[in-house]
Amino acid sequence: MANVTLTINGVKVTVQKGTTVLDAAAEAGFFIPTFCHAPELTGFGACRICVVEIQGMRNLPASCVTEATEGMVVQTESPAVVEARKTILELILANHPQDCLTCEKNGDCRLQDYAFRYGVKGPGFEGQRHSYAIEDSNPYIIRDLNKCILCGRCVRTCAQVKERAVVDYAYRGFNTKIAAPMDVPLGESDCVYCGRCVAVCPVGALTYKRLSGQGRVWELEKKPVTCTFCDSGCQFDLISKGQKVIGVAARAPGPGRPLCLKGRLGLELMYCDQPGTPQLKKDGEFVGVTWPEALGLQGVLEKLKKIEG
Ligand code: SF4
Ligand code: SF4
Ligand code: SF4
Ligand code: FES
Repeated sequence: MANVTLTINGVKVTVQKGTTVLDAAAEAGFFIPTFCHAPELTGFGACRICVVEIQGMRNLPASCVTEATEGMVVQTESPAVVEARKTILELILANHPQDCLTCEKNGDCRLQDYAFRYGVKGPGFEGQRHSYAIEDSNPYIIRDLNKCILCGRCVRTCAQVKERAVVDYAYRGFNTKIAAPMDVPLGESDCVYCGRCVAVCPVGALTYKRLSGQGRVWELEKKPVTCTFCDSGCQFDLISKGQKVIGVAARAPGPGRPLCLKGRLGLELMYCDQPGTPQLKKDGEFVGVTWPEALGLQGVLEKLKKIEG
């Protein structure tokens, strides 16, 4: 494939034709912040935090959806770019709870990281604020849409889960939110709790219920493991605190399937010191069940009992 050479922050970079300015900058060692972009998901260009200055262009284009071209001259941190990023952060913070002190994502949050990087101490604007009820009616995922920045990463990753696409944008304008069909809680939707949306959420809008309050991100260790419950070979992370495994988390989307609910429950049973009570939906309600029932092994146990008898 043909190459193109461009100049980024005074450094000449040669990349394959079709590469985005964001990826070209990364190849040259320059960091550009992103919210909605994820390498494994289709380009979106919604959040604009990745804007750059390109010689000859009037506006600041989003680098994640702008193709690098021959002779392009790019600035990734010019005064205009920094000003635009600060304004975007101030606008987000104008409708964001800012309870970093108790937020599960403290220390692993892009909004927090970028506010620190650009010296944004709080909202620069006054306006309406959302006050959605925190949704924790299902046993696996907590949704706090007050912290959602509408980046759409959960929507695009859920659409990749086979036969799902459970969540999408709903309503308009200030009322725009991420919702399941008919805006029902996740527990009443077709969600399979693969956890991929939690893995890609850049802020504290989606978190794991089981890990809630268990520890700060810097106290936890992630170890990549492959599920052995079937031959699909799904990848997931074992989460430990000290010597104790406290949970199982999905990995960001990549090749292969996401961890299924059976895999998640079975792995919790295998690895966690104190696995929680598994919950399965019966007649539309989540109820606590035994581990053999959760894993579909009830029939096997009954057959074994009959043989023993
Ligand atoms: S989502 Fe990020 S910025 Fe918002 S409260 Fe949590 S840690 Fe703070
Ligand atoms: S847990 Fe999986 S199926 Fe459910 S909304 Fe998230 S990505 Fe979709
Ligand atoms: S819930 Fe998280 S991933 Fe989904 S749109 Fe909101 S911030 Fe983005
Ligand atoms: S990261 Fe480029 S527009 Fe969101």
